Amino acid sequence: MTDELGLCFGGDYNPEQWPREVWTEDVDLMVRAGVNFVTVGVWSWSTIEPVPGKREFGWLDEVLDLLHGSGIAVDLATPTASPPPWLGIRHPETLPVNRDGVRLAAGSRNHYSPASAVYREHALAITRDLAGRYATHPAVRMWHVGNEYGEVDYGDEAAREFRSWLRAKYGSIAALNEAWGTAVWSQGYASFDEIVPPRAAPYLINPAQKLDFKRYSSDQLLACYRDQRDAIRAAGATQPITTNFMGFFHHVDYWSWAGDVDVVADDQYPDPASPDAPSDTALVQDLMRSLGGGRPWLLMEQAISAVSWREHNVPKSPADARLNSFQAVARGAEGVCYFQWRQARSGPERFHSALLPHAGADTDVFRGAELLGADLKRMRQVVGGRVTARVGILFDWPSWWAGEEDAVPSARLRTLEQLRRWYRVLWRHGVAAEVVRSGSELSGYDVVLVPHSYVIEPDSADALSRATAAGTLVVVGPFSGVADASTNILQGRFPVLLRHLVGVSGEEWGGLPDQPTPLAMEADWDAAPSGGGTATVIGERLRTEGAEVLARFAGGPYAGHPAITRNTHGAGTAWYLGAVLSDDLLAAVLEEALREAGVTNALGASVLPGNPLPDGLEAVRRGPALFLINHGHESARIQLPVPMSDLLTNEEVDRIAALPPRTVQVLIEGRTT
Ligand code: GAL
Repeated sequence: MTDELGLCFGGDYNPEQWPREVWTEDVDLMVRAGVNFVTVGVWSWSTIEPVPGKREFGWLDEVLDLLHGSGIAVDLATPTASPPPWLGIRHPETLPVNRDGVRLAAGSRNHYSPASAVYREHALAITRDLAGRYATHPAVRMWHVGNEYGEVDYGDEAAREFRSWLRAKYGSIAALNEAWGTAVWSQGYASFDEIVPPRAAPYLINPAQKLDFKRYSSDQLLACYRDQRDAIRAAGATQPITTNFMGFFHHVDYWSWAGDVDVVADDQYPDPASPDAPSDTALVQDLMRSLGGGRPWLLMEQAISAVSWREHNVPKSPADARLNSFQAVARGAEGVCYFQWRQARSGPERFHSALLPHAGADTDVFRGAELLGADLKRMRQVVGGRVTARVGILFDWPSWWAGEEDAVPSARLRTLEQLRRWYRVLWRHGVAAEVVRSGSELSGYDVVLVPHSYVIEPDSADALSRATAAGTLVVVGPFSGVADASTNILQGRFPVLLRHLVGVSGEEWGGLPDQPTPLAMEADWDAAPSGGGTATVIGERLRTEGAEVLARFAGGPYAGHPAITRNTHGAGTAWYLGAVLSDDLLAAVLEEALREAGVTNALGASVLPGNPLPDGLEAVRRGPALFLINHGHESARIQLPVPMSDLLTNEEVDRIAALPPRTVQVLIEGRTT
């Protein structure tokens, strides 16, 4: 994608929001900062088509020529995420309806229904014309379809589309009634025509209906993306085509989208005020790499300082902004871009930071951007480099959707929170991970973690068993493997499909009391953490069926029952956790599992239980480079396996790397020059 460009550096550029004379200054300053890639046109529909059917492309011709003349590549966007007001006025059915039946108005953005045939026609028409005109323009190096697909619509047209999606899935209404369990609360449907989206209702809504509506909504958005993607190709464009994802965005199943983008691109806005932001962001970045099957991905948007959409917006220092970008590069990004190039003077985002602030180029922020541009040019050896991982961590959108339904043993069990907690242990040890989708082949991993997969389908259970039999170590968290794909509870002692694998089974899940429940470590668990530990949130009434018990509940409703178990299965081992464990105990369990499986960290060293990397230090190996990023407030020192040198400074680092707070080193073996 970026072979000739090296790493991409730039951001969203919205010249239609500025007078012509500003453009020349923009391009001059872009060149000064080392910007080589900008996304143009995301919000420009009403500028291109001010009245229905008209086309105003002159300004865009000029912008593309200007950028090309200065060697800046363009990611050209279809402007379809924000239709002009006239579309909603002429065709109110293009506007989305929320779950309360309220039709949303123009005046913001994203005011379109993905189910609206009229919206799709108009979006396609402008896409065709845009692609026809610019498919072969030399500035255009990538296509950006729409923006952050995520709209959910509950209107009548959505109801029709939902019904045809259901017809295709179930074939007959009898099959749907069976899968949805509609005998409960008199919900039996006589025909697909009776079904509506899960709109506001008097009480709890059928969870299977909600789950299918989530699936349908994600697919409907994908259909909108595909319309435009195909139109761009049909116009003869040969550049990569993509759209921007949003990390663990709830409404879109990116596993089902990943095959449709030529390059995975993502928008990341970690909250600088959150102490867990570094590891949570690393997890998102590993997801992006995993969605692309390990291929490099693109950080399409981030903020160089504060955003403006939180209630309280904490800025980043230029040093922190630099760390964010290097973290993405370390984890496989082939480019780091920002929202946006020039800070807006009007509109709702005028306090959102940008590479070029209101105060102009004589600012720390702009100087930070210049430094970053220069640093990224030193990263040539990293371009195309891969991150390899021996640990897989299971995550699926439908399981997330279903697992966070209403009326469950504990609403405090949140899939993403558990995923982040488990991942944090890996991150602290500098252990690389891939996010894996259920049903994938798992036997290539030394360790597979299943923090919370409420839905585990038979193919996924088989893959877990097969991998374990072949030697993989698997750790399964509580309330996993509970339900089928329609969120109906599997019958029998749980986890029904994994019972044989984990050698333990259960009969009841329950929310644990607010006061953490003590756990007693078994005397013969050699590696038992000396600090012991507690359980919270959810627990299970378990009995062993061959597994060794490592810890038991020492109080609460499940006192005396196993809480942590380990089972040998073929050449591998399966651990089972019958509760949400306290942080220290969870870390002890996962560290022990990683050690047992012989997993090494980015420095090639074994995982030592209780001995993570210095606080705040992130270590990642990408291709030939070892990235060390100190997110902490203290200096960090770490022993290197061999003498290395820093691509950023050309300095040699002989065995001990010392990083002041908020700094990064990109080390390669031997000398840089
Ligand atoms: C994204 C969007 C950008 C901008 C940014 C602000 O959601 O794609 O256009 O609004 O957020 O953080």
